Amino acid sequence: MAKGKQTVFFCNSCGYESTKWMGQCPGCKEWNTFVEEKVISTSQGKKSSASKDTVAPTPINEVSFEEEDRITTNINELDRVLGGGLVAGSLTLVGGDPGIGKSTLLLQVCKNLSFQGRKVLYISGEESLKQIKLRALRIGDFNENMLLLCETLLSNVEENIRKNNPEVVVIDSIQTMYEESISSAPGSVSQVREATALFLRLAKDMNISIFIVGHVTKEGTVAGPRVLEHMVDTVLYFEGDRHLSYRVLRGVKNRFGSTNEIGVFRMEEAGLTEVLNPSEYMLSGRVQDAAGSVVVCSIEGTRPMLLEIQALVCQSNFGIPRRQTIGTDFNRVNLLMAVLEKRLGLSMGNFDAYVNVAGGIKVNEPALDLGICLAIISSFKNRQINPKAVAIGEVGLSGEVRAVSMIETRVIEAKKLGFDICIVPKVCFNELKNIKDIKILYVNNVQEISSLDI
Ligand code: TYD
Ligand code: MG
Repeated sequence: MAKGKQTVFFCNSCGYESTKWMGQCPGCKEWNTFVEEKVISTSQGKKSSASKDTVAPTPINEVSFEEEDRITTNINELDRVLGGGLVAGSLTLVGGDPGIGKSTLLLQVCKNLSFQGRKVLYISGEESLKQIKLRALRIGDFNENMLLLCETLLSNVEENIRKNNPEVVVIDSIQTMYEESISSAPGSVSQVREATALFLRLAKDMNISIFIVGHVTKEGTVAGPRVLEHMVDTVLYFEGDRHLSYRVLRGVKNRFGSTNEIGVFRMEEAGLTEVLNPSEYMLSGRVQDAAGSVVVCSIEGTRPMLLEIQALVCQSNFGIPRRQTIGTDFNRVNLLMAVLEKRLGLSMGNFDAYVNVAGGIKVNEPALDLGICLAIISSFKNRQINPKAVAIGEVGLSGEVRAVSMIETRVIEAKKLGFDICIVPKVCFNELKNIKDIKILYVNNVQEISSLDI
């Protein structure tokens, strides 16, 4: 076949296409990200798919609307992140570090779906049938609806999907799939793009749900171009510390539901199990009588989650004090420390400060501000805060404590987990006046913190 060979340069980080090499990508302004790839134009490379009839536009009022049919995966945490279940004809990208549990989770999904009598096809380009079987043995029994295939060539994958006509397909992973007519290596920008386009087509044509697994680069984005994220319907990221057993599945894009929902799992001997009460889990192992430890309440999607903020403020041995944060925004903590210095007159210029969200989870919510401030003050003054207190509130530059969303949900969660005191913004008084059986302390600004009885 006369290949219309042409060399194109792609930006590895955003997928920007250029005919010549450039030092800096005009798209994402990253340096040295261009790679050369031989491509053939799609019109030459693709077998012409079934010719499409032209469709006339429909008046919006005549479009019939029904709730999409959702398939439950029987894993509540995953269903919630997906927005209530899997939608037929959708393409879902699952990203995450190697070894975090992507294959395990999807195998468990396949298992549950196959027991609902749905035909599932698991296509692996990474592991042999034996390896998958080995993992499957840890997870449990499977039935005959679950088919395995080890294949990386896209045309074979397509043929198999069309022939077997499954309801759900898992591609593990997109970086191993390759199209013969493209000469660049599997995992390169054009291969990944081509493969995703094929799966998108298959999902829509056949009305099947396809999961694709994507590896993550050091920077934490799915390897390959950003366009990958634009092409799929849903993007889920699996995060968490490989050394800890819990994992967080986060929705970052969802065409069928809200984003920012999280699912919490624990990796165990027999695969991933759901953590139904993450607050309890996040707070387990907490030392009750330590200075610098404060419990806060963060909202992830629609669900409140109690977390422990730990601060350590100690004498600095160097001219420039060290500031470090784990699990929360570094600049935010610096800003809050500046507010405390100015408004409370705490001179922390000679002190190093470390702030950590216990449990390895990452949160970036302004509602944590008050808790972070309390933890810093507590550690600085070496005074312990009542372990039964929860702090909720955003702190502004003038030291004012501002309202946060869903305050009632947060206070109720604290109450449910047996906390006695909630420190909340004064402006939220009206929303909370009906809550009983928990002491609520209202603050207007950070200056009032020192007079609190905690
Ligand atoms: P895996 O799903 O292979 O990760 P990924 O596909 O994201 O690379 O997960 C591998 C890790 O999970 C590995 O370190 C072993 C561990 N694991 C368990 O602890 N229990 C289990 O039942 C399974 C299947 C895996
Ligand atoms: Mg894997």
